Amino acid sequence: MRFNSKTIHGGQSPDKAYGAVMPPIYQTSTYAQSTPGGHQGFEYSRSGNPTRAALEASLASIENGNYGLAFGSGLAAIDAVMKLMKPGDEIVSTNDLYGGSYRLFKKVFEDFGLKFHFVGMQDVAAVEEKINENTRLLWVETPTNPMMNVIDIEAMAALAEKHKLLLAVDNTFATPYLQLPLDLGADIVMHSATKYLGGHSDVVVGALVVKDKELADKLYFLQNASGAVCGPMDSFLTLRGIKTLHVRMQRHCENGRIVAEYLKAHPAIEKVYWPGFEDHPNHDVAARQMRDFGGMVSFVPKGSSYDAAIAIVEKLKVFTLAESLGGVESLAGHPASMTHASIPKEEREKSGVVDSLIRLSVGIEDAADLVADLEQAIG
Ligand SMILES: Cc1ncc(COP(=O)(O)O)c(C=O)c1O
Repeated sequence: MRFNSKTIHGGQSPDKAYGAVMPPIYQTSTYAQSTPGGHQGFEYSRSGNPTRAALEASLASIENGNYGLAFGSGLAAIDAVMKLMKPGDEIVSTNDLYGGSYRLFKKVFEDFGLKFHFVGMQDVAAVEEKINENTRLLWVETPTNPMMNVIDIEAMAALAEKHKLLLAVDNTFATPYLQLPLDLGADIVMHSATKYLGGHSDVVVGALVVKDKELADKLYFLQNASGAVCGPMDSFLTLRGIKTLHVRMQRHCENGRIVAEYLKAHPAIEKVYWPGFEDHPNHDVAARQMRDFGGMVSFVPKGSSYDAAIAIVEKLKVFTLAESLGGVESLAGHPASMTHASIPKEEREKSGVVDSLIRLSVGIEDAADLVADLEQAIG
C-alpha cells in the first residue's frame, strides 16, 4: 500500500467480535482466562490492549517499520529508549533539542550515569568528534524544535553504522508524511503523537517504531516493565487522527508556506526560520529527505525585543497562544518562556532560541485568515 492508504488501512482489520470498522475502545484492565494462560492474546492492559495494539500496528505501518509501541506521552517513549543504555554510556544529540527532551536527558538520566553531548548536528564532523568508545546512541530531532534546523538522517545513519551505534530520530515535526527515518537508516523512530499524528490537540501520546525484532523485544520489555503505556481511549483518538494525517499534512504544508513567505516579506520581521527557503541552512538536505517543508515556522521581530514578541503573541486571535503544536488549529508559542524554559538561557541562545523568538504551528484554517491575524498583530 502507498502512504495515503496506509494511514487509513495499515495494520487494521475489522474487529473480531462484531466486525466494527473502527477498533472498539476496549476500556478494560484485564481479560477472562478459561484456565491459567488460556486467553485470546491479552492478559492485562499494561502488557497489551486490543485498542492500543491497533494503534501500534498503524504506527508500524505508516513509518515503514515492523513493530510499533504506544506510550503515555512522547517523553515516556524517549524514557524507554534511554533505558536501553547502561551507566557510563554516552549519547550525542542536537543542541537545539525540544526542551523537555533536554530536561529528561540532563536532569534525570545524567543522575543515572549517562553522559550527553549536545552539538549542532548539521555539522557531521562535529558529531563524529564527540563519538568515543562509550558512545551508544545518536539522538536526532529534525527539523529541530524551534529553530527548524535540518539534520541529514542518511549522514547520521552512516556515522551510526561506522561506529556501531543506535540511531534514533524524533520525527514529531515532520511525520512520516514528510520523511521516513527508518528508510533512511535509523533504528528507532520516535513521536510525540500528541502533535501531528493525533492532530486534534486532544491527547498526550508517545510512539516508537522499529524494524528489528531484537530491539522491539527489548523495548516491549521496557514498555511493560516501566509501564508508561497509553490508555484505550487515547489509543482510539490517536488512531482516528492518523487516518487523516496525509490530508492534514498537505494543508499544513500549503499554509506553512504562505505564512512563512508572508513573514519573510514583512518589513517588521528580522528573521524567519522555515526549511522551505532556499537560503535556510541545509535546505538541500530538507529537499532531499522531506517530501515538503511542514507547517512549523519560527520568526524574530525586528529589534529583537522580548516585549515586542510578547505584544505580538498577546494580540493574535486566530492563532491561540498555547504550548504544543501539530493540531488542526493554529497555535503560537514563545519558546524562551514556554516550551524551552527548562534550557538555561546561555545554552538556549547559543542555538538561536533568543527571547524574541516566536514559534508558529500553522494550522489548517483558511490561510487568508491566518495572514490577516498576523497582520493585525504585527502591525
Ligand atoms: C519534538 C518533540 N519531541 C518530544 C516531545 C515530547 O512529547 P510529549 O509532550 O508528548 O511528552 C515534544 C513535545 O512538545 C516535541 O515537540
